[in-house]
Amino acid sequence: MRITVLTGAGISAESGLATFRASDGLWEQHRIEDVATPEGFTADPALVHRFYNARRAAAAAALPNPAHQALAELARHHDLTLITQNVDDLHERGGSPEVIHMHGSLTAALCASCDARWTAPMVMSPADPCPTCRAQATRPDIVWFGEIPYHMDRIWQALETTDLFAAIGTSGNVYPAAGLAQHAARMGADCIELNLEASATARDFSRHIHGPASRTVPDWVASLV
Ligand code: APR
Repeated sequence: MRITVLTGAGISAESGLATFRASDGLWEQHRIEDVATPEGFTADPALVHRFYNARRAAAAAALPNPAHQALAELARHHDLTLITQNVDDLHERGGSPEVIHMHGSLTAALCASCDARWTAPMVMSPADPCPTCRAQATRPDIVWFGEIPYHMDRIWQALETTDLFAAIGTSGNVYPAAGLAQHAARMGADCIELNLEASATARDFSRHIHGPASRTVPDWVASLV
């Protein structure tokens, strides 16, 4: 069976990583405009690097949970396309062989001047020169608000032929990710949402499983393998 899974911050919540829109989430403590836009980076690159350095450290200290591990198991049995909005690497460390990071990765650095990419050091700073062109324009390889998510061609293509689409741990507030379920449904896929609560796009799914991902995802995967 062809299965496409989209994950969001909720799948890493039980690994101890903060989500964005919870009452104690990242967007309660930081202004999106300051730390997650190209304009914020231009205004104060040191602040933006501090924000992502802290998130990189938190992600490195976190461990994959049973939900990440179950999706690795799912890939061993089905033709799985795993898409994540998460910038942590817990899917990879949980054993998933291929992960599409549509919002970028904390483990990569990007030169805003020449577009070179390289492995991010644990602590990045505005003074870091690009190893290729030497410009001091090093930024985290994160897709900010106002930027175009990565790998969209590949993602739309997977939705054309998928039999089953599942969204796990995402609030459905950020497009284009939030529109993938509706597109998959139009293409004929069965759409299922696994989340703590109904998301903003709950009506696009024909099935819902509510509860913590570390419990619901292994149960759902067990029903498929
Ligand atoms: N198990 C399952 N779901 C959970 C859990 C859990 N243990 N904990 C929280 N959730 C759910 C929440 O109920 C919420 O619906 O996960 C969702 C997390 O939503 P957001 O914080 O909005 O995260 P996400 O949907 O990934 O955000 C999308 O927004 O700020 C941007 O670029 C950022 O990729 C991110 C995008």
